[in-house]
Amino acid sequence: MTKTATKTTIKTTPTTIAIDGTFASGKGTLAKKLAAYFGYAYLDTGKLYRAVGLRALEAKADFTDGLALAKLAKKVTAKELDNPVLKSGPVGAAASKVAIYAEVRAALYDFQRGFAANPGSPYKGAILDGRDIGTVICPDADVKLYIDASPDVRAERRYKELLSYGEDVSLAKVTADLTERDNRDQNRAEAPLKPAVNAHLLDTTNLSIDAAFLRVKALVETILPHK
Ligand code: DC
Repeated sequence: MTKTATKTTIKTTPTTIAIDGTFASGKGTLAKKLAAYFGYAYLDTGKLYRAVGLRALEAKADFTDGLALAKLAKKVTAKELDNPVLKSGPVGAAASKVAIYAEVRAALYDFQRGFAANPGSPYKGAILDGRDIGTVICPDADVKLYIDASPDVRAERRYKELLSYGEDVSLAKVTADLTERDNRDQNRAEAPLKPAVNAHLLDTTNLSIDAAFLRVKALVETILPHK
């Protein structure tokens, strides 16, 4: 009897960490730090919506026309996500407005899911942060986190961030914008911001970035001990 070597193929899918949460909750900073620490690729999905918002502002598009906005969304490329203008207050507000449309969200699915499925070498997996990563984009993510903080603390953080970009804003305006943004993100019909049922919740109101990072790092190490 001759022995034949059998080739076993083990299917490996990249690990995905989904981080959702409110505006200025610290989720982006945490996501970046986790990605650097664990060797994962990182995608800030808010930048995709911001890129659509910027395109819409530049084209003086009709913000009530979801189909026209979706056409702009289909054109978004990875390259434009590095544009520093995306971080500005007006572009963030425009992003939140375009994000209410199912057509716009659908136009950005493939980019996000493609990133999670193929983070590329040398990354072990991908971390995506946004509003609907654990609920809609990557419902099978290995780890899901939901980050929040009190509105006052978030407004203060965002105010300082905008000042650092040289924007001329008041804390009152930032607070009003934040309330409006929270309402729109949480109450829209399409993929509203909410924790996935199996998400781990973290409130960063009284935590420094380092303290918050240590907590989520420990959690990820518990859930993915071999990664
Ligand atoms: O995270 P951010 O502030 O950059 O996001 C800007 C807007 O984009 C946010 O108000 C809502 C929208 N967004 C979304 O609807 N879904 C995501 N996954 C990411 C952002």
